[in-house]
Amino acid sequence: MRKTSALIWQDAQHQVLFEILDLIKEPTADREVFFRLKDYTENHFALEEHYMRELDFPGRIEHMQAHARFRKEISELLEAEGELDDIFRDIIATFLTEWLTRHVFGIDKELEAFILQSSAK
Ligand SMILES: [Fe+2]
Ligand SMILES: [Fe+2]
Repeated sequence: MRKTSALIWQDAQHQVLFEILDLIKEPTADREVFFRLKDYTENHFALEEHYMRELDFPGRIEHMQAHARFRKEISELLEAEGELDDIFRDIIATFLTEWLTRHVFGIDKELEAFILQSSAK
């Protein structure tokens, strides 16, 4: 049986994203963690979008729209004034983790399969 391969860079970057989300849940988390998440997400999305364009991925419009929505959510969170209290941090961390989990194990998996198949040709 053939071993299913994984897209190493994509897996590794998703791992880092979940690690940053875990940091947001910590009581010591400050705005800096959110900026870190924003930067890392930006680089990660840019790389996925690069592959989507290069390989002419059929689902790229929908996928790029999903990325755009996440970018908007994070920007709005960072613009919001006020204290980063426990409840707020918890709600945000839960929301972002759920969003990212759905994205990473849904639409990103389709992209992964497409990239692996394209590079195998
Ligand atoms: Fe991703
Ligand atoms: Fe993605």
